Amino acid sequence: MISVGGLDVVAQGILVASLCIATIFLYAFYNVYLHPLRSYPGPRLWCAFRLPYVVSVQRGKIHTQLTAFHGKYGPVVRIAPNELSYADGAAWKDIYASRPGHLPFKRNPTWFKKQHPDEPESIMGPDEDAHARMRRAFANSFSEKSLRDQSPAVEGYVSSMIDNFKRRINLSKGRRSATVDLTQWLNFLTFDISGDLSFGESFDCVKTGKMHYWVEIVQDFGKGLAMVSALNQYPPIDRLLRFVIPEKIKQRQLDHRRMSAEKAKKRVHTESNRPDFVTPALKYTKDKNQPFTDDEWAINMMIVVFAGSETTASALTAIMRELVQNRGVLQRLSGEVRQAFDSEQDITIASTGNLAYLNAVINEGLRLDPPVVIGVPRVMPKGGDIICGKFVPENTYVTYNQYPSNRQPSNFHSPNTFLPERFLSPAAGKDDFTTFQPFGIGRHSCIGMKLALAEMRLVVARLVYAFDFSLKDAKDRWDWGAQDTFIFWDKKPLNVVIRLSGEA
Ligand code: HEM
Repeated sequence: MISVGGLDVVAQGILVASLCIATIFLYAFYNVYLHPLRSYPGPRLWCAFRLPYVVSVQRGKIHTQLTAFHGKYGPVVRIAPNELSYADGAAWKDIYASRPGHLPFKRNPTWFKKQHPDEPESIMGPDEDAHARMRRAFANSFSEKSLRDQSPAVEGYVSSMIDNFKRRINLSKGRRSATVDLTQWLNFLTFDISGDLSFGESFDCVKTGKMHYWVEIVQDFGKGLAMVSALNQYPPIDRLLRFVIPEKIKQRQLDHRRMSAEKAKKRVHTESNRPDFVTPALKYTKDKNQPFTDDEWAINMMIVVFAGSETTASALTAIMRELVQNRGVLQRLSGEVRQAFDSEQDITIASTGNLAYLNAVINEGLRLDPPVVIGVPRVMPKGGDIICGKFVPENTYVTYNQYPSNRQPSNFHSPNTFLPERFLSPAAGKDDFTTFQPFGIGRHSCIGMKLALAEMRLVVARLVYAFDFSLKDAKDRWDWGAQDTFIFWDKKPLNVVIRLSGEA
């Protein structure tokens, strides 16, 4: 028998294994019974270890799991040893707003940690000073005036998609109908718009009917972010764990960054007054003598293209799915839009602002199927603070999770039903609208909200004005929440049959 230091190898193995088990047991015991968060309710295994949360995110099931937990444990749930999930309207202000006399709750760096120390700061990063500098520069790019200036470009891309659909009908056998996958087309559309307004050049997806390589790579962005944020939960071994990311994915990420940097550089160094996201921000940085480096432009424009297109595509696809699955709503909406306009040319960003039912449909889509499924987590500042009337210690991760909150019967009546009417004539006490903040609140809230709403109104109005829709396969009906999420929705195809309106 081999013997080391008087103990045989088997005995040493048993000793090491016992010590490991005892350490894990003590760690779990501490987290459940002695940890400062012990008084917050939550599933025991999740309170004891971070792993169940990580596994759930990687399986794409975190949104349904958290919905079930909030149903069982209430509006505040401990979902990891150091993380609380909120589904109580009061938490929005406490977590995300700037409160006088309170330290800011920063973005959680496990999500946005730099991959290399020399990586530039971005508008999405956890550094508050860098964020404020970039937010000020981009604010003018997303003002009412900029939106008016950008409108013709947005309207042009929407017209191009509608014309493409009409051509498909004309080319079809019998020239009566065509089948399109709206998931794909709405993705093409929003990426073309974002690409144009950010890089000064379209990805041409709508024109060609094909996915551009840049857009194809970025589709996996949510999965990459989910994986990286999971690895970042385990310092210091996160550096080692990074080796488990497949080489192919790493290479695609590098390709993507390089392409984005080239496109951003080309746009920023081109003298131009085109009405896009760059012109006002560039003017601001020049006027204030606070120039961005090329690397800062590159990372910020990459973020803006993605933030502006994936979310809007997701919302539009969800709204169109809800409409084809809820014929009564579709009929009422088509009636409102077709009555309001005499021709397709009259439907513009400016003219679609005040259609009550259209606005209600969009809000209900954002409630039932929020594009930002789970919130972007924040970290409790030094000394801790109060959230929803209860003390939360420093360094705790806190998040308002939209999908789980919006699906609680304690927040909305018939929470899983698509009911735009709830936004038209709110039934007293039946819905708690303080919980509904699809664009977030506070200094990090969505900078593109006005553009997103304008784009959604325009696209939905143009589609329901021009076409009648039905599901290609009548059995292809399901709750939007049945899809997986990897930070963003892993969207399934939405194949619909389109006919020119009134020709059914
Ligand atoms: C339906 C569409 C959209 C939804 C639901 C949405 C939602 C959100 C939410 C919830 C946040 C806050 C994240 C946080 O709290 O950390 C956010 C931030 C942001 N969004 Fe949007 N967004 C949409 C469209 C857009 C568009 C069209 C753009 C730009 C073209 C955009 C650009 C951004 C940027 C740059 C931020 C970071 C802002 C900051 O930290 O100061 N988003 N968005």
